Amino acid sequence: MSKAVEPRELRLGVNIDHVATIRNARGGLHPDPLRAAHASVAAGADGITAHLREDRRHISDTDIARLKRELTRPLNLEMAATQEMLEIALRHVPNACCLVPERREERTTEGGLDVVRGGKLLARVVGSLREAGIRVSLFIEPDEKAIKAAAGLGADIVELHTGRYCELALADDATGVAGEVQRLARAATAAEAAGLEVHAGHGLTYNTVAAVARMPEIVELNIGHFLIGEAIFTGLGASIAHMRKLMGEARAGQAQRQGGRKATDAVPKPRSGPAKR
Ligand code: PXP
Repeated sequence: MSKAVEPRELRLGVNIDHVATIRNARGGLHPDPLRAAHASVAAGADGITAHLREDRRHISDTDIARLKRELTRPLNLEMAATQEMLEIALRHVPNACCLVPERREERTTEGGLDVVRGGKLLARVVGSLREAGIRVSLFIEPDEKAIKAAAGLGADIVELHTGRYCELALADDATGVAGEVQRLARAATAAEAAGLEVHAGHGLTYNTVAAVARMPEIVELNIGHFLIGEAIFTGLGASIAHMRKLMGEARAGQAQRQGGRKATDAVPKPRSGPAKR
């Protein structure tokens, strides 16, 4: 019988961008992303993530200043690797910056950073942030080349893009899901072996979180859109608490299975998709 192993802690970073999306739809002050951040922390979030986009479509500069001033948990600032964003990050000094690719016409962050070709600029931004004591994360595809490049750039962390996995799950493509879960698991192992802290996120839901939460190298998940959407029906505290419960259960199962099945065996059922209510 395999021995139970104490699982590594798996943190939840709650992305509050879409609270700001709703606020901005009316141009007023409600709902307030800072209030959502406090509620998320009260419900068990280990940190708060906010993406200051070049077009300021959701989170604003003022939101970042307020979050940094008032949050009691680490702030992870998502941003493009531009001079403007670098200056903002250096002004506020969040705990971590997650560098993401950004195109104005996209609805959300599509695809990981081109760490292989984006070399010089990324190296400068990574270096400046790290000099200021900010931990640097690079949002990348679960791909060995990208991992090597991220390590070469001196990043502390890679966040593995789970968007493709979640899209395949939504499409009920069991074969595609199995392949993508394997790709993520291999990438998590390679990233840890390269000395990087491993995070993951994008598109995760109640139905897709377990397969990622089981991967023992991953220590943080960043989840936003689904949690804020679920909050419409159940409240923010309840949606976060349920996500945390699923993460914890998946993690505990993974620990007991070490030495037996691998995380790559953990393929969600074919009929996985969004929460059906
Ligand atoms: N991680 C990164 C780097 C992202 O860009 C996003 C989306 O802003 C997320 C995680 C969260 O994705 P979602 O809102 O789909 O949960």
